[in-house]
Amino acid sequence: MEPEVVLQVKNLKTYFTTSKGTAKAVDGVDFTLHKGETLGIVGESGCGKSMTSLSLLRLIPSPPGKIVDGEILLNNKDIVTMKEDELRKVRGNQISMIFQEPMTSLNPIIPVGEQIAETVRLHQRLSRKAAWQKAVDLLELVGLPSPEKRAKQEPFQLSGGMRQRVMIAMALACTPEVLIADEPTTALDVTIQAQILELMKDLQKQIGMSIIFITHDLGVVSEVCDQVAVMYAGQVVEHRSARDLFNSPLHPYTQGLLASLPKIHENQEELQTIEGAVPSPYDYPAGCRFADRCQHARAICRAEAPVLEAVGGTESKVRCFMYTEKWETAAEEEEVLCP
Ligand SMILES: Nc1ncnc2c1ncn2[C@@H]1O[C@H](COP(=O)(O)OP(=O)(O)OP(=O)(O)O)[C@@H](O)[C@H]1O
Ligand SMILES: [Mg+2]
Repeated sequence: MEPEVVLQVKNLKTYFTTSKGTAKAVDGVDFTLHKGETLGIVGESGCGKSMTSLSLLRLIPSPPGKIVDGEILLNNKDIVTMKEDELRKVRGNQISMIFQEPMTSLNPIIPVGEQIAETVRLHQRLSRKAAWQKAVDLLELVGLPSPEKRAKQEPFQLSGGMRQRVMIAMALACTPEVLIADEPTTALDVTIQAQILELMKDLQKQIGMSIIFITHDLGVVSEVCDQVAVMYAGQVVEHRSARDLFNSPLHPYTQGLLASLPKIHENQEELQTIEGAVPSPYDYPAGCRFADRCQHARAICRAEAPVLEAVGGTESKVRCFMYTEKWETAAEEEEVLCP
């Protein structure tokens, strides 16, 4: 039996209106997250990963940003149209988020235990003493050494790895159903990164939560994610199980990303990079947004925009004409045009 759907995002659009025009940061994003699953969202810098995750909590800075279209269904309730007071209950209780740089989301001059206890008390009726104890328990759960002592310290007295653990404890304070982790480990050294990832997996097993894991590191994705959504220019271009994605990437962009992974090629000099640049979010081309960088592109790719579709009766979805019936027709037409 399929595990139940916790979160369904449909045609999400988040735009920024600035003096330069409208930046379509998130431009028709679709994905589904099941209970207990880890979904990785990957893609080059600027493709809209963070803006997608902030949209899920309606934390987009507004102005200049705004969710202009789409649905975010959390247990079938739409976050996009939710009233503020209901939204406050959802944040932290049902969905919470770990940010990339803990120092920006922790108060530098308040002991970390107190900050966690405060979050606990926002969502649960507990005495100060009980909330403090819960904070210490959470710090222990996330593997902070000497949690009693550390709880009394301020963020600057902790190392980067410890602060990241504090952030995770904070995000877990209310046992969320969905945890969003936006590049939670990039600021940390490799050993600590591995420890934090291990910790998140353990906690997921214990609590049964679903995780959205945002990163541009495909190596990390292959280790921790069940499903992967590859984003390009504000859209999902491929969504599949991690195993299928790494075994047989479908979208030329995903193929390019994998070809640039050091682990696949033993010889560093063989590393490939994807030529060309990402189109500006202020001015996307009419057809496929990847066409200019794609070695397979045909006339149809520049004329028409492909949609995200299931491939031949499988669970895999891809946004590319190569996997549609139109592809052969497009090839024949090209032969007529340039014999
Ligand atoms: N305040 C803003 N004003 C205008 N445009 C913005 C603003 N914030 C974000 N954007 C646009 O949103 C796009 C997506 O940004 P986002 O932060 O989601 O990228 P990302 O995929 O998380 O990148 P990274 O890997 O570097 O974190 C950017 O290209 C930028 O054009
Ligand atoms: Mg980001």
